[in-house]
Amino acid sequence: MSNGRTLAERIGRAKRVVAFTGAGMSTESGLADFRSSRGHWKRYDPLAMASVEALQSRSPAFYDFYRMRIEALSGVEPHQGHRVLARWEDEGRLQAVITQNVDRLHQAAGSRRVVELHGNLREVSCTQCRQRFPSTVLLERVDCALCGGALRPAVVLFGEHLPGGPFAESEELAESCDLLLVLGSSLTVSPANVFPGIAQSGGADLVIVNRGATPYDGRADLVIDGAIGEVLAAADGCLREAGHAGGQEG
Ligand code: APR
Repeated sequence: MSNGRTLAERIGRAKRVVAFTGAGMSTESGLADFRSSRGHWKRYDPLAMASVEALQSRSPAFYDFYRMRIEALSGVEPHQGHRVLARWEDEGRLQAVITQNVDRLHQAAGSRRVVELHGNLREVSCTQCRQRFPSTVLLERVDCALCGGALRPAVVLFGEHLPGGPFAESEELAESCDLLLVLGSSLTVSPANVFPGIAQSGGADLVIVNRGATPYDGRADLVIDGAIGEVLAAADGCLREAGHAGGQEG
């Protein structure tokens, strides 16, 4: 049975599906992930580029790294996989997306309930007055126009806690879902990688769609090693063929 059909079967049977996405969700939109062969951490040292220490030292490398990523965001579009998730939410088939991503491509595709565990790179904030600005401001300046404080990307850096609200909301979603659909994450970064375990403890099925292995593969009910866009589009096609109405009918 094809990957798409296998996934469609599980999605069609589930009543409360939650998606959990990582950087692999955005590579088909042209954004690099972190740990695959062409990922950021294959070229840069994460602690030198994305840690609180790097921010506090105001290192040029820190600002260059985030300027490069902010520039990469301009012009990228959601791909078919993002659009399928947004459609499944509209059809009542998907409850929410918990994402580690900071590119807001889920929202751009029309997803409404998106829980951002690691903040977002569409904004920067002032470390002094907390004012937020579009992140493109960082391409022009590193100081706050209002108070002169240092600007920083509105993302969670290594060494920082995740925002309490999104973490608690993600816990609730993982506890109450009956299928957690992991899409494009190596599941190696904590505490974000606790949600597959929380979901399974609540009795949910765990499905992982990822190129390459993850530490949770052995515990998953289904592992699909394939391109997310293709797999989600194929599953969506099977669900349409089967005439599956929204999630309510299951
Ligand atoms: N289809 C399926 N899988 C893919 C695709 C794709 N098109 N593209 C990449 N992948 C897989 C990669 O093989 C990799 O296993 O997605 C996974 C992405 O893993 P990471 O690069 O580790 O990204 P992620 O899990 O989101 O990292 C978590 O680490 O550095 C921090 O803050 C950063 O949020 C990030 C966190």
